[in-house]
Amino acid sequence: MDQDPIPPTIAWAGDHIELVDQRRLPGELRVLAVYSVDELCDAIRNLVIRGAPAIGAAGAMGIALAWVRGERVDIAASKLCATRPTAVNLAWGVDRARRAPDPVAAALEIAAEDVARNRALGSFGATLLAPGARVLTHCNAGALACVGYGTAIGVIRAAHEQGRQPFVWVGETRPVLQGARLSAWELNRLGIPVSIIVDGAAAALMGSGEVDAVIVGADRVTANGDVANKIGTFGLAVAAGYHGVPFYVAAPSPTFDRATRSGAEVVIESRDPVEILEVAGVRVAPDGVDAANPAFDITPRELVTAYITEHGVFEEASAAFDAANEPGVG
Ligand code: MRU
Repeated sequence: MDQDPIPPTIAWAGDHIELVDQRRLPGELRVLAVYSVDELCDAIRNLVIRGAPAIGAAGAMGIALAWVRGERVDIAASKLCATRPTAVNLAWGVDRARRAPDPVAAALEIAAEDVARNRALGSFGATLLAPGARVLTHCNAGALACVGYGTAIGVIRAAHEQGRQPFVWVGETRPVLQGARLSAWELNRLGIPVSIIVDGAAAALMGSGEVDAVIVGADRVTANGDVANKIGTFGLAVAAGYHGVPFYVAAPSPTFDRATRSGAEVVIESRDPVEILEVAGVRVAPDGVDAANPAFDITPRELVTAYITEHGVFEEASAAFDAANEPGVG
């Protein structure tokens, strides 16, 4: 494997798990060691590790940790699944490790597969981008949101590796700033030109013809093709549809959830209003004013131009589900 400028977000270390602490980026690249399932649950809740595929791998490693420590795997599973409700990958990773005769081997397999899936989806998706394409992405669906390589950023990265010279607009992604902090850090490290915009600037940029494609990741694609992803994704899809800009969803098969019929059934995580009321620990909102902090939204399938998976590019979600067709998916 070639040297990757972005280290794996998660690694199994025998009696503990090592996580890149994403709360500290871009200022500091530091690894956090977690030795118990409870510590891992805190790390998932507090966004030390985040992004659907990454928390899928974390769920599997959490089961592996409980197993090597001789703890009740069923209790570990319910604690892990309760940390964040929206990304289906978490429950998928937990279940797959739980059902395996050797959860450590299963967790390692999931981690290795994640990178392979993302490289494959990246090379399929890159063919959609013309040379010099200006791509808008949201949140962080890059290597940091996975074990490695990335989904939406994986597509951009593959285009870059193929010499297509993509340029990236990244929405800062209020309130946790995954775009401004994490995507910008990754793209910069990869040598891909990037410019950060405030989330509210996206529609205007599309209107002035400065966006050739929008590519986002997903936390869950439901059976009818609706897409749960970071709050603000729906608005981008509406603006892209209005302006005739293609709107692509890049996600590996474990994100496709056949058991949930439509976006209306997806549980949207509601996070602490403090994330909105304060900036860098300083209150900016008037005292006595509250905030609503839904972390995800649902983009209806009609607004999705195509789904990019490790099996190809599909205009219909049903075709992406059929292609996935692997045990434990959907
Ligand atoms: O709250 P986060 O940072 O975990 O949200 C992440 C996203 O919404 C990503 O777009 C999604 O998980 C896909 S990551 C490949």
